[in-house]
Amino acid sequence: MRTQVGIIGGGPAGLLLSQLLHLAGVSTVVLERRSRDHVLGRIRAGVLEQGFQNLMRRAEVAGRMERDGQVHSGVNIAYQEDRLRIDLEGLTGGKTVMVYGQTEVTRDLYAARDALDGMVIDEAADVTPHDLESDSPYLTFEKDGAAERLDCDFVIGCDGSHGISRTAIPADRLQTFERVYPFGWLGVLSATPPVNDELIYARHDLGFALCSLRGPGLSRYYVQCRADENPQHWSDERFWTRLKTQLPAEVAARLVTGASIEKSVAPLRSFVAEPLRWGRLFLAGDAAHIVPPTGAKGLNLAASDIHYLSGALVDWYRQGDSAGLDSYSQRALARVWKAERFSWWMTALLHRFPENEGFGDRIQRAEFDYLMSSKAAQTALAENYVGLPY
Ligand code: APR
Ligand code: PHB
Repeated sequence: MRTQVGIIGGGPAGLLLSQLLHLAGVSTVVLERRSRDHVLGRIRAGVLEQGFQNLMRRAEVAGRMERDGQVHSGVNIAYQEDRLRIDLEGLTGGKTVMVYGQTEVTRDLYAARDALDGMVIDEAADVTPHDLESDSPYLTFEKDGAAERLDCDFVIGCDGSHGISRTAIPADRLQTFERVYPFGWLGVLSATPPVNDELIYARHDLGFALCSLRGPGLSRYYVQCRADENPQHWSDERFWTRLKTQLPAEVAARLVTGASIEKSVAPLRSFVAEPLRWGRLFLAGDAAHIVPPTGAKGLNLAASDIHYLSGALVDWYRQGDSAGLDSYSQRALARVWKAERFSWWMTALLHRFPENEGFGDRIQRAEFDYLMSSKAAQTALAENYVGLPY
């Protein structure tokens, strides 16, 4: 097989890139390790920045998002019993976010790739890149037990945090930066009406909690837990009790509980690999960087990478111009690090850190009090939450 751009990983990053390149006349093949059912069954975050929304429109996959997504003009922060609404729209000159699940984004992207006869090979095993330093790299993989080879001009690693593309870069050419947080999030999806029409991020002495939503009858809630927590040890009742305890009383009183549809634990981690290019290999999305979910930046960062990278590849194919490819790593990383900073800051503000007893707790409280009293601080939060410019 031959294509122009070989993409490893059929998550949102890989599919979005494939779709944008297709519309610009560049051929792609996506190699995805898992089955489509598996990919579409993953529940992840669901807050889309305006830049992401625009990219979905450019990729001609925004129809369902425009119809079913909810525009949010504010977000709430609670600290024990105190609540602060951040007026995203008012503080950013009219910017908002869209609440629309990543699972739905992925579904829309698959539908669009299918409609255009896009080549997405599911259950591709042992995907291995070769000759990445040459002008003619290729990928080998196994499909249904048969060995396959895909020749291409470029290989794009969109294979998430556990992918193989990053490991193809020699260790002495790659620098990595990491912070592992001493806790995780226990998430529950339930077919219950959301407790609030906007998100509430809550800091409580027992730990962080988040009230999010997917639609009028579908809620997504999280509580801070141990990083190695087993979700099976959490009955629905235990989860609801904990969540109620960690929310302001007035919010807890309104919470409607019900059977969970999904329950999972995610560890919290910050990670960045540099640079994002090695020869003809380019990294994008979770393959290159991870943020803790506080602030919902993971998916949005994947989108900004794809924005830079798709433009750079199109310039290369249309005009033979390599400037965009040459500056991709630097441009993408500049934005990545700002989102890393914001996600780290929100995580630090809202979680209970075991080592924080005393001084650290007072600093967190002071940070929140400052946020309550300062329009400048609220503006900084709002500007980052709606997404920094591309
Ligand atoms: N070969 C082929 N595919 C692979 C391999 C491999 N060796 N390893 C992983 N993959 C696939 C995974 O199965 C997954 O479908 O790559 C895909 C990566 O998708 P995501 O993990 O969703 O990553 P990405 O597309 O970068 O999306 C951005 O932002 O909100 C966060 O983590 C969240 O998924 C989200 C991410
Ligand atoms: C979610 O809805 O799953 C969600 C929302 C906001 C976050 C993280 C997750 O910061």
